[in-house]
Amino acid sequence: MQREDAIVNELCVDAVFTGSKPFYKETAQRWLYRKPNLIWKLVILVALGIGGMYICISGVDKRVAYYREMISLTANNEIWTKGPCSKVNVAEMFSLHYFRESRLKRDECGCKPTNYFVILSMQRSGSGWFEALLNSHPNISSHGEIFSVERRRKSVTTMIPTLSTVYNLDWVSSASKNHCVTAVGLKWMLNQGVMEYKSEIAAYLKKNSISIIFLFRRNLVRRYISILANSFDQVAKQINGRHFAHVHSEEEAKVLAAYKPVVNLTFLIPYLKRVEEIIVDAQDSFKEIRHMTVYYEDLVSNQKKELRRVQKFLGVKPTQLNSQHVKVHTQPLQEQINNWKELEEFLKGTRYEIFLRGKDYG
Ligand SMILES: *[C@@H]1O[C@H](CO)[C@@H](O)[C@H](O)[C@H]1NC(C)=O
Ligand SMILES: *[C@@H]1O[C@H](CO)[C@@H](O)[C@H](O)[C@H]1NC(C)=O
Repeated sequence: MQREDAIVNELCVDAVFTGSKPFYKETAQRWLYRKPNLIWKLVILVALGIGGMYICISGVDKRVAYYREMISLTANNEIWTKGPCSKVNVAEMFSLHYFRESRLKRDECGCKPTNYFVILSMQRSGSGWFEALLNSHPNISSHGEIFSVERRRKSVTTMIPTLSTVYNLDWVSSASKNHCVTAVGLKWMLNQGVMEYKSEIAAYLKKNSISIIFLFRRNLVRRYISILANSFDQVAKQINGRHFAHVHSEEEAKVLAAYKPVVNLTFLIPYLKRVEEIIVDAQDSFKEIRHMTVYYEDLVSNQKKELRRVQKFLGVKPTQLNSQHVKVHTQPLQEQINNWKELEEFLKGTRYEIFLRGKDYG
């Protein structure tokens, strides 16, 4: 028995000793270093802690000093600061509170706050025209339908960096206004991922103090006619063999308006209901975000007043805005629809009947 035990012992020891270093040597080495190792670790930990606290405190300190320097309020609501930003309007700064890092790069306009906005809309609601009007302001940059490009709206992880680029004033488009932009944003259709990722987007908008301009069209039947005409032109390419979603001359508008679609009555009511649902859902999903709603019809009938309201909302100085856009459909609805009589009969007594009357006004 004892002999056997000894053999087993030997085997075990052998097993331990196989390897380049004998077991006892390693143990000895570990033993040698263990204690200092622990102490070193503690020292490093404490040093890191102190360093972290220092960075944190000095950072806060610097920030406090920075604000203390900046904020010496005067009676007429202005802040006096040292350095390049000598005078900032406090109402402007804190109601909109987007005093950003990027101001450092903004040269002579670096001391003015930049406001962020997004136009949430649906196709054929006048958003192209609306955006062109906004971009005629020297201090507004609205970068267009950035998310019409599918890969940018594939998921939240592709949307957020795209949005950040826009709001960091790093997006380059024909609407870029360099240093003196006071309001920056884009146009985003509800069916371009907005509703799909509504909660994530709402969180992002809220976190970054981005305001929403909802742009909707009240008359959903007219909107539908516009969609049909636009889809037709996508295929027919009526002007010089090219498709135009917006036109800039009366002649071109006439060409596009000449097409009279047949309205599919089976499809119409469920479709109008669905659109209404989407609008309600959008307004509900983003109700926590600072927003305003603009209706295309009001913009047509009272352009000056509506644009003034929008410019105030964006925190820019209201000015006369212009666009080269020409409205395509200006005739009464019965002249735009092939099966008008049928449609009129069909909608009689429904709540959509009202859409058949009157113009785009009111
Ligand atoms: C608006 O833009 C103009 C021209 O770039 C500039 O002179 C002006 O200071 C800007 N206004 C604001 C409030 O930034
Ligand atoms: C009308 O719409 C319905 C429902 O979408 C569809 O099934 C039908 O094929 C459409 N009719 C025509 C003529 O396009």
